[in-house]
Amino acid sequence: MAKILTLTLNPALDITVSLDALRPGHVNRAQAQQSHAAGKGLNVAQVLADLGHSVTVGGFLGRDNLQPFEALIARRGFADCFVRVAGETRSNLKLVEADGRVTDINGQGPEVDDADRAELLRRLQQVAPGHDAVVVAGSLPRGVSPEWFRQLLEQLRQQGLKVALDSSGEALRAGLQSAPWLVKPNTEELGEVLGLAVQTTAEQRAAAQQLLASGVEHVVVSAGEQGVSWFAAGHALQARPPQVRVASTVGAGDSLVAGMVHGLLAAESPQQTLRRATAIAAQAVTQVGFGICDHEQLVRLEAAVQLTEQQEGCR
Ligand SMILES: Nc1ncnc2c1ncn2[C@@H]1O[C@H](COP(=O)(O)OP(=O)(O)OP(=O)(O)O)[C@@H](O)[C@H]1O
Ligand SMILES: [Mg+2]
Repeated sequence: MAKILTLTLNPALDITVSLDALRPGHVNRAQAQQSHAAGKGLNVAQVLADLGHSVTVGGFLGRDNLQPFEALIARRGFADCFVRVAGETRSNLKLVEADGRVTDINGQGPEVDDADRAELLRRLQQVAPGHDAVVVAGSLPRGVSPEWFRQLLEQLRQQGLKVALDSSGEALRAGLQSAPWLVKPNTEELGEVLGLAVQTTAEQRAAAQQLLASGVEHVVVSAGEQGVSWFAAGHALQARPPQVRVASTVGAGDSLVAGMVHGLLAAESPQQTLRRATAIAAQAVTQVGFGICDHEQLVRLEAAVQLTEQQEGCR
């Protein structure tokens, strides 16, 4: 099994509050509340750990509410490379109503300063070279510029790691300039960053060709319940997930990234890689929280994924 680093520069405490119906401007009573230490790289890390990999997690954590994060890191046996910074890690509030509507309120994280950024680079200089791949996922905190982010990805690449990037907006745009090994935008993120329409397979393919031509090896485009398209040199594959009962779509993309990195590092066939990754993502939406708990359900979902292959592939 591989040694994988995941970086979450802007983690969050996900607080999910279930209510009958949200009434803005009134006192609302919750029916249930759950909180999880989260953030995209940490979500990916949990799925990778369940797939048997040895995982190091890093990024920035606020010193004032470390407990849930340190508890998760200890429980999962992750190596901890997070730099502690002044302030609180943000909370992302999800208000879930009985009819399934979800209102998100995402907090603002702590501000990262020069010394924090330098400390993360210093730690990664020491720690990163022992890893096969790094998954860099999520948004940038205050104090981290897209330009610094690009340099971080370049440093990781120069250290010999395969870099998988899952971000959006300015961070994705800057990160793409470092020609990562794999990118996993959803259709909205890809369309926005390239300024192109990417609804149809042909449009996605044209967009992916641009990225492949710039040096990216694997372009994985996710489209929610519609499934996934994966473009790489030599193949263009699509997967449609089976219909599942949705408990929470939070972290579907993170689970897909983990599944793709797993299959690629384990040198599985492209078909099996995409089939399993799509099943892992479908399973993720059937549960609240992250990780693979039910291996039998995963096998059933895998068998129900529909794959299509475009013969000419990509160049
Ligand atoms: N309702 C669903 N049923 C089955 N599979 C789903 C469903 N929603 C998402 N998925 C799977 O998860 C993958 C990732 O979902 P999506 O495209 O929504 O990612 P995302 O927008 O990056 O999500 P996030 O960043 O919130 O984790 C999809 O490509 C699909 O395979
Ligand atoms: Mg995503």
